[in-house]
Amino acid sequence: MQTLFSFSPSQTERIAGTFAQSLCGGSVVAFTGGLGAGKTTFIRGLVRGLGNPADVSSPTYAIVNDYGGDPHIYHFDMYRVTSAEDLQSTGFFDYMDGKSVLLIEWSENIKDELPEHTIFVDLLPGATEDARIIQIREGEET
Ligand SMILES: Nc1ncnc2c1ncn2[C@@H]1O[C@H](COP(=O)(O)OP(=O)(O)O)[C@@H](O)[C@H]1O
Ligand SMILES: [Mg+2]
Repeated sequence: MQTLFSFSPSQTERIAGTFAQSLCGGSVVAFTGGLGAGKTTFIRGLVRGLGNPADVSSPTYAIVNDYGGDPHIYHFDMYRVTSAEDLQSTGFFDYMDGKSVLLIEWSENIKDELPEHTIFVDLLPGATEDARIIQIREGEET
């Protein structure tokens, strides 16, 4: 497990941009951390780091944002997804095609459905309002 510290939104984006370099087509990244933890901020930096200029925002109502690109990026928000049927209807399993990068907010809600190679990014509150502790772990290590 890797533990990183961020003291501003822009620092979180930079950390995410560096992390993005370790990803490839087929990567699945699952985020945990409550509302305002910084999941979308991290994903914004990650998407930029993959060279994708898309406008990144939480797909709270749409459930999935399609950012296109190469690799193709899909951004999920599973806040409202609470059953296997819900998940099926989001098309999640169709997007998991071994080529696309899947980024999943509120992955807590679907943790039993994540593939074995999932990389977890946990965002935890730090000591001050703008501080965050970022933990990156591979699925096998949990
Ligand atoms: N170090 C930090 N990293 C990320 N976001 C931060 C940080 N410090 C303050 N923030 C603020 O916290 C909020 C995080 O929001 P967001 O990324 O949408 O979180 P989430 O998607 O987890 O709900 C933003 O308003 C952002 O400006
Ligand atoms: Mg969000």
